[in-house]
Amino acid sequence: MSKQFDVIVIGGGPGGYIAAIRAAQLGFNTACIDEWKNSKGGPAPGGTCTNVGCIPSKALLQSSEHFDHAGHHFADHGIGLKDLSIDIAKMLGRKDTVIKQNNDGILYLLKKNKVTFFHGRGSFVAAAAPGAAGQANGVYEINVAGVASEVISGKHIIVATGSNARALPGVPFDEENILSNDGALRIPAVPKKLGVIGSGVIGLEMGSVWRRLGSDVTVLEGLPTFLGAVDEQIAKEAKKAFDKQGLKIELGVKVGEIKNTKKGVSIAYTNAKGEAQTLDVDKLIISIGRTANTIGLNPEAVGLKLDERGMVVVDDDCKTNLPNVWAVGDVVRGPMLAHKAEEEGVAVAERIAGQHGHVNFNTVPWVIYTSPEIAWVGQTEQQLKAAGRAYRSGSFPFLANGRARALGDTTGMVKMLADAATDEILGVHIVGPFASELIAECVVAMEFRASSEDIARICHAHPSLSEATKEAALAVDKRTLNF
Ligand code: FAD
Ligand code: NAI
Repeated sequence: MSKQFDVIVIGGGPGGYIAAIRAAQLGFNTACIDEWKNSKGGPAPGGTCTNVGCIPSKALLQSSEHFDHAGHHFADHGIGLKDLSIDIAKMLGRKDTVIKQNNDGILYLLKKNKVTFFHGRGSFVAAAAPGAAGQANGVYEINVAGVASEVISGKHIIVATGSNARALPGVPFDEENILSNDGALRIPAVPKKLGVIGSGVIGLEMGSVWRRLGSDVTVLEGLPTFLGAVDEQIAKEAKKAFDKQGLKIELGVKVGEIKNTKKGVSIAYTNAKGEAQTLDVDKLIISIGRTANTIGLNPEAVGLKLDERGMVVVDDDCKTNLPNVWAVGDVVRGPMLAHKAEEEGVAVAERIAGQHGHVNFNTVPWVIYTSPEIAWVGQTEQQLKAAGRAYRSGSFPFLANGRARALGDTTGMVKMLADAATDEILGVHIVGPFASELIAECVVAMEFRASSEDIARICHAHPSLSEATKEAALAVDKRTLNF
């Protein structure tokens, strides 16, 4: 007889492994299946996030930022350095160690929480009788294809199979010259010239890493606006900073033929003025978004409904069209963010337990880990205008913040938007140092439906960057104290 579980989670990324841990905490006999392999063929749970996403990109951003500071900012502090160099192999090795620490940490957490881990590919079994296809006696049968194959069964299935990089039609990733996020994280030597297609989150983060290390980086973006989803004023400020750093961003381009030669990559494109151009680079990163991953899941076997883009169709509660089959994270609608996937995973486990799990999409923060960092929560000024909502806006520049001056990093601002009548905070937008950390206070405030006055009346430590948030709140009422 096959092994029986209350809950089987397919996928061990942040959506899946967190869902499995929460389900086990709630008393369910839980299994988690993940197929990611490390370089030795062993299990490497954590998904895109841990292996080729959030964690390795932040490791490289940190290394390259140290290099950039040593080369360009240490002198301001009176620190002299001779013969500054970078050992790329060591930098990549450190990144791999950080990945492994996370893989091992997740395996430990699964064990600690008594989740049974299966290393292999999970797929719905084609036909099982009696009952609906693949669903025998009220349970789903899942084939696990690992070193050996076995079929396990579960009452509830949570699909958390994540996403893959989207390729340009006819331009496959070879991960040598034409790179997805995977190859972009393991370029063995600093490319003299690096091309990036797409000035979204990955393009800016990975473009920044290699620019800081010495590459001449050109980013080609199809849209005429820079970071269209970001508050316009913040995006403009960020663009100014990137221009100053020498990150070349061309907007409104139309990419044509891409030739991958042994020597490098040649990209034909039309610029915003309609002029034909060619960009020759050593390496090309293509970061034009991601597609839901259901490869190998065999959704057809049970009639699991996908939309026209290949995403698993779910309702607001992450329920699919099949009874007791749920889906979370990048494989479903909504922002492709690790923390969104985690929140959905927790909520689904709690719903299975009859609780009222909840994800508030209005307060999911976004962070772009460039320098300056960009972070926001809630609505942008352009969204409020389009919705005809009356609002008040207040902003405070880091230039006027004592801690930012001491850090030597005064780029950017905090901008707060509040309802004109009730003063409820509707959005906060930050570009500047440690925006990724500063945004947490704003998320809490919005989750508790705070007013800008609430933030303005809270005592913030001095000197701290968070004082800029307090001052932005004061600015909503036109009464900043330090500007
Ligand atoms: P995934 O992390 O993709 O995990 C899915 C897992 O399921 C994988 O391990 C996969 O191998 C496994 N799997 C798939 N099919 C099967 C199957 N049939 N059987 C068994 N296993 C299967 N988000 C942030 O919030 N912050 C960041 O800083 C950030 N940085 C990023 C940087 C990069 C370069 C990239 C590419 C992404 C980044 N993201 C970031 C996005 C983040 O990685 C994803 O939103 C997140 O990983 C989604 O989690 P998930 O669990 O839905 O899917
Ligand atoms: P993205 O959606 O952020 O950006 C893609 C960009 O490519 C857009 O600006 C789009 O207009 C442009 N584009 C699309 N097709 C194009 C074409 N043919 N020619 C030129 N430009 C084109 O996608 P990206 O950067 O690939 O990242 C995928 C997702 O991964 C992000 O949306 C985000 O959800 C997640 N991520 C999150 C991070 C974070 O939270 N810090 C970091 C990295 C990724």
